[in-house]
Amino acid sequence: MRFPTVSRCRQALFLSVLPAISLAQGLSFDPREATIASTHHALYTGLTTCREIVSSFLSRIEALNNHTNAIITLNPDALSIASHFDTLLASHNASTGRLFCIPVLLKDNYDTANMPTTGGNLDLADSRPSVDAPAVTALKDAGAIVLGKANLHELALEGLSVSSLGGQTINPYDSTRTPGGSSGGSGAAVAASFSVFSTGSDTVNSLRSPASANSLFSCRPTRGLISRAGIIPISYTQDVIGPIGRCVEDVATALTVMSSVGFDADDNATALAPAGIRGTDYYADLTGGSLQGMRFGLPGGFFNRTATNETTPVNSAMAAMVAKLRSAGATIVPINDTVYNATAISALYDTQRYEYRQEMDVYLQRPSLKGTHPTTLNQLYNSSKFLVIPSQYEYVTTSLISSTDNVTVGSHESYDAVQRGIANLTLALRETFVSKTLDALIYPEQKNLVVKIGSASQSGRNGILAAVTGSPVITVPAGFSAATDEAPIGVPIGMEILGLPYTEQKLLQTAWQIQELTKVRRTPVWARQVVHVKPYANGTVPVIRPDRGNISPNYPLGTL
Ligand SMILES: *[C@@H]1O[C@H](CO)[C@@H](O)[C@H](O)[C@H]1NC(C)=O
Ligand SMILES: *[C@@H]1O[C@H](CO)[C@@H](O)[C@H](O)[C@H]1NC(C)=O
Ligand SMILES: *[C@@H]1O[C@H](CO)[C@@H](O)[C@H](O)[C@H]1NC(C)=O
Ligand SMILES: *[C@@H]1O[C@H](CO)[C@@H](O)[C@H](O)[C@H]1NC(C)=O
Ligand SMILES: *[C@@H]1O[C@H](CO)[C@@H](O)[C@H](O)[C@H]1NC(C)=O
Ligand SMILES: *[C@@H]1O[C@H](CO)[C@@H](O)[C@H](O)[C@H]1NC(C)=O
Ligand SMILES: *[C@@H]1O[C@H](CO)[C@@H](O)[C@H](O)[C@H]1NC(C)=O
Ligand SMILES: *[C@@H]1O[C@H](CO)[C@@H](O)[C@H](O)[C@H]1NC(C)=O
Ligand SMILES: *[C@@H]1O[C@H](CO)[C@@H](O)[C@H](O)[C@H]1NC(C)=O
Ligand SMILES: *[C@@H]1O[C@H](CO)[C@@H](O)[C@H](O)[C@H]1NC(C)=O
Ligand SMILES: *[C@@H]1O[C@H](CO)[C@@H](O)[C@H](O)[C@H]1NC(C)=O
Repeated sequence: MRFPTVSRCRQALFLSVLPAISLAQGLSFDPREATIASTHHALYTGLTTCREIVSSFLSRIEALNNHTNAIITLNPDALSIASHFDTLLASHNASTGRLFCIPVLLKDNYDTANMPTTGGNLDLADSRPSVDAPAVTALKDAGAIVLGKANLHELALEGLSVSSLGGQTINPYDSTRTPGGSSGGSGAAVAASFSVFSTGSDTVNSLRSPASANSLFSCRPTRGLISRAGIIPISYTQDVIGPIGRCVEDVATALTVMSSVGFDADDNATALAPAGIRGTDYYADLTGGSLQGMRFGLPGGFFNRTATNETTPVNSAMAAMVAKLRSAGATIVPINDTVYNATAISALYDTQRYEYRQEMDVYLQRPSLKGTHPTTLNQLYNSSKFLVIPSQYEYVTTSLISSTDNVTVGSHESYDAVQRGIANLTLALRETFVSKTLDALIYPEQKNLVVKIGSASQSGRNGILAAVTGSPVITVPAGFSAATDEAPIGVPIGMEILGLPYTEQKLLQTAWQIQELTKVRRTPVWARQVVHVKPYANGTVPVIRPDRGNISPNYPLGTL
């Protein structure tokens, strides 16, 4: 009995191996490494029902969540929606959207009308939006079934994926390490096949670090491609939202659906998207690219060449990736410009401290936000119901103390200087692309392996360049460190592919070529097990209680 541990998004081969295993287990649908295509194949050929698909993922979460602590809440309506979909299918009257009966998990900073939206923060435990975020509506309209909400780094402010409400999420590949973040629950859950794909948000690294640390694919879209309305905010300049999946195909389909919201008056950045971009189907021509003749810039400043156990595996994985790209006919162009220095860009141009307080106050004061919740960020931090994280302390306190009025362009000289610097950096990036005729920049998401649980910060990440310039990035699995006792198949390592604004289609085509060339993704060892599907009675979606007993003493519940 052999379970193929390599993800195959075109599932023909995958399915040809699995049914024998599945039938032996009494299963007619195998959720492990399932994709949109394999799920639809099983459903539409009558091998399974929507109810069984949803039950199989719920059963995995119920049985295995204690390995990773990725889930905060399950959707009490998930089973009844699935039954309704089966009724539609039986009547041959289903207007099946492209995500029909696809189970998804949402980062718990996405507003949902039937579940609390907490940001992982105890003071928001009963904060209840009365309307779904537009991106959630789009997913549901396309037929997706929201299984529940995933843990995140508290309020999405760091990359350790520990929160006062959700506890510490554990990396599925190495139980001593964090799963990256801030969308760490979304990443760990997808790595463990708790859903077909998940969603995240990204203010500096947060869609890319969890993809990198969990051997997954993600898309950080261009600012303006997807409405950010109804997402717990941090920064108008830097926030974006997007999907995380086990293969490029699923990320492309999810991006197509999430971006179908188009212009949204509640997020005026959506007015920036060029008319020709609206309605793009990112799946349709996914296989239409070629690595032959492509030119990838490789910024040397995004590597740490000091050899240690934490950095050498990253450098080796990138060297192997570069060799494969070259052998496929691509050209690698070294970029030595000192402007590509993530530490310097963060120090000079990160806008969070200026924009956070006012963005959050607007979110907390919306009339549609029900339930018990603070109405200002100051109140939230005066509750002492939050974890003190050393690395975020400075900018959170700055944003609270300095921002008694709104920071807008023209109101604060230091903010204006930051925005001018970002404009300058954006121009420098474009200049690099043009002068070196580049198709994309490639670099490791993180200069070192994802950090251990209890660390002061998720150090060494390179996400800030895309964050401040609003550039799109597809993250792809690049390799693994060597196996150890703690990491039986090694720790995943991810690569960013960064392009100019609104080049998602080309970046996804490139990522698809790299997926086919390298086939890096592996399933975490404990997640390979088959879980017996529970015959849940109607209305009995299990209740998941996050483990808060596992929070490191390094992150006390705090006062500012
Ligand atoms: C998870 O729970 C199961 C059943 O209670 C137990 O057998 C297993 O050891 C637990 N695993 C972890 C990692 O806590
Ligand atoms: C088909 O579905 C539509 C919309 O869900 C409904 O209005 C209609 O009555 C259904 N027709 C049949 C034959 O079930
Ligand atoms: C867009 O919205 C932001 C934040 O809500 C606001 O500061 C800005 O003035 C708006 N821009 C335009 C052009 O309306
Ligand atoms: C580095 O890895 C080697 C081989 O696994 C191990 O013997 C050594 O103790 C590690 N060094 C550190 C500082 O962890
Ligand atoms: C950039 O750095 C690489 C080595 O890191 C070196 O081989 C190359 O000559 C440098 N290019 C320029 C233009 O300085
Ligand atoms: C990157 O910037 C930091 C902070 O400005 C500086 O200390 C460091 O020396 C720079 N690194 C390189 C390689 O120039
Ligand atoms: C914080 O709470 C205390 C009482 O608990 C109150 O006196 C104080 O005004 C509050 N501060 C802010 C900034 O809300
Ligand atoms: C800040 O802006 C928000 C809306 O953008 C507004 O509701 C609020 O009154 C403003 N606050 C101040 C102090 O100007
Ligand atoms: C603009 O960018 C260039 C590098 O491209 C840098 O040398 C210069 O200092 C920057 N100027 C400002 C005002 O940030
Ligand atoms: C590079 O790695 C070394 C060793 O892990 C570390 O001390 C140093 O801070 C890292 N430098 C950067 C720029 O990340
Ligand atoms: C659940 O309810 C649906 C109707 O909503 C029904 O068709 C189905 O048989 C019920 N399933 C169970 C297990 O009770």
